[in-house]
Amino acid sequence: MPLGRTHGVALVGLTGHIVEVEADIGQTLPAFVLLGLPDASLHEAKDRIRSAAQNSGIPLSRRKITVNLIPATLPKRGSSFDLAIVVAALRAAGDIRDPGQAVFIAELGLDGRLRPVRGVLPAVMAAAGAGYSDVVVAAANADEARLVPGVKVHGYRTLAEVALALGADPLHLVLPEDSEAAAEVSMSSADDDGAHPAPRDVPDMADVAGQGDARMALEVAAAGAHHLLMTGPPGAGKTMLAERLPGLLPDLDDSKAMEVTAIHSLGGIAAGRASLIRRPPFESPHHSSTAVAIIGGGTGIPRPGAASRAHRGVLFLDEAPEYHRGVLDALRQPLESGQLVIQRSAGTASYPARFQLVLAANPCPCGQASAKGINCTCTPFKRRQYFTRISGPLLDRVDIQLSVPRVSFSDFATGETAESSAVVAERVKRARLQQHRRLAPFGCETNAEVPGRVLRNHFPLDRRITRDMDRALERETLTARGYDRVLRVAWTLADLRGRETDR
Ligand SMILES: Nc1ncnc2c1ncn2[C@@H]1O[C@H](COP(=O)(O)OP(=O)(O)OP(=O)(O)O)[C@@H](O)[C@H]1O
Ligand SMILES: [Mg+2]
Ligand SMILES: [Zn+2]
Repeated sequence: MPLGRTHGVALVGLTGHIVEVEADIGQTLPAFVLLGLPDASLHEAKDRIRSAAQNSGIPLSRRKITVNLIPATLPKRGSSFDLAIVVAALRAAGDIRDPGQAVFIAELGLDGRLRPVRGVLPAVMAAAGAGYSDVVVAAANADEARLVPGVKVHGYRTLAEVALALGADPLHLVLPEDSEAAAEVSMSSADDDGAHPAPRDVPDMADVAGQGDARMALEVAAAGAHHLLMTGPPGAGKTMLAERLPGLLPDLDDSKAMEVTAIHSLGGIAAGRASLIRRPPFESPHHSSTAVAIIGGGTGIPRPGAASRAHRGVLFLDEAPEYHRGVLDALRQPLESGQLVIQRSAGTASYPARFQLVLAANPCPCGQASAKGINCTCTPFKRRQYFTRISGPLLDRVDIQLSVPRVSFSDFATGETAESSAVVAERVKRARLQQHRRLAPFGCETNAEVPGRVLRNHFPLDRRITRDMDRALERETLTARGYDRVLRVAWTLADLRGRETDR
């Protein structure tokens, strides 16, 4: 009897590791021994695999089957290995030919159907990266898998189709009716629920009447990728403005689009996609969301949360002081490093989370405090308390902090159409290019990520320009951090105007 050998992929965070699956048929009593999977998924996998094979007309051997997943030390989630395991077992029994250097990534249904799994994109990326030329996935995952260049993707609907393609005797196979044609041809997800979601309607800046300062702040934030805090009374349009930020940001380039799509693939959101996510994502988790929902985590290998899904896009925390303190504190890590490392007993996973943070808040719990403060019913103590919930270290990283008043009646009633997102986005794009040219030698793309030290040492400004800031620093009305924030925003303003101040 040959040894059956196939390959699967274990995902830890966004990183995939090739897992070798070995199957051996022994001469002893009937049994199915599965090694190298965590206990809980072991039993489920065995049962699924047996039933799926049985119902596909290609039952597993009645003798002792031993399957080993190598390396055992890698944390694995059971279901995405189903297909690799069953193919190895069928090969060991001599029912099919050697699949060679192919990687199998699919879950089995009890009826023998191949079911799509989360994270197919990063898994296929790992297979391609490890030099494998062929990947077999569920038909419903095929489009997504094909986003990875350099591998041949075979999509099948059922285990019987896979077995047929691998030379099983068609006589006993339980094949779907139209499968003669389908078996050899890789299939797209046309027959599945994979109707591609229509691109999200992005709200336009043209809807925002007046609010010159806020519009400007949003444009500067977009141009320099600066984090932004908006405070103002209810109805001032904070939420409205925040939702329009992604529409001002440039498209993601190939490598960023791949990263973002991979993260969304893990959440199952990219399933059925036929193209990469090109627009910066927008995530706005509600303030009652749990830390797991925002930061990531959950049972088993930790999953990405909203903060990671906002990678290369915008994370919007509306009513920011209302979020759980732990959530706000946990966001400091990704703001510093662009990564979220999540530790759980089942393993540690790290997900990219380089997002642009937008915070919105009322000025006080009742929301009515304004410059005049006429209608506010809060005590001064309650007012102070409210803001301290957004911690200093978090606010330290927010370059632009803006107060948004209600739109004035005259602005609102003019009926003039304001500038559209497309026009603003064009200026943002030019400003980004200029930053990129200037900052690439320092490993940065945007003004928001430049360390102040780089700006001060490599792009010194005339003393006449910095005079007011220098004085404020001396008098300690401006902190050193605040000084660097001013520099970063000033550079973005110059970039928007197409100016260079360096010599
Ligand atoms: N400048 C504006 N131009 C056009 N419509 C506006 C403007 N400001 C507010 N609105 C209208 O008011 C509505 C409420 O605005 P929005 O929800 O963004 O306010 P908010 O500041 O987020 O309030 P809250 O603090 O209650 O969350 C918007 O949906 C929009 O219809
Ligand atoms: Mg709001
Ligand atoms: Zn109040």
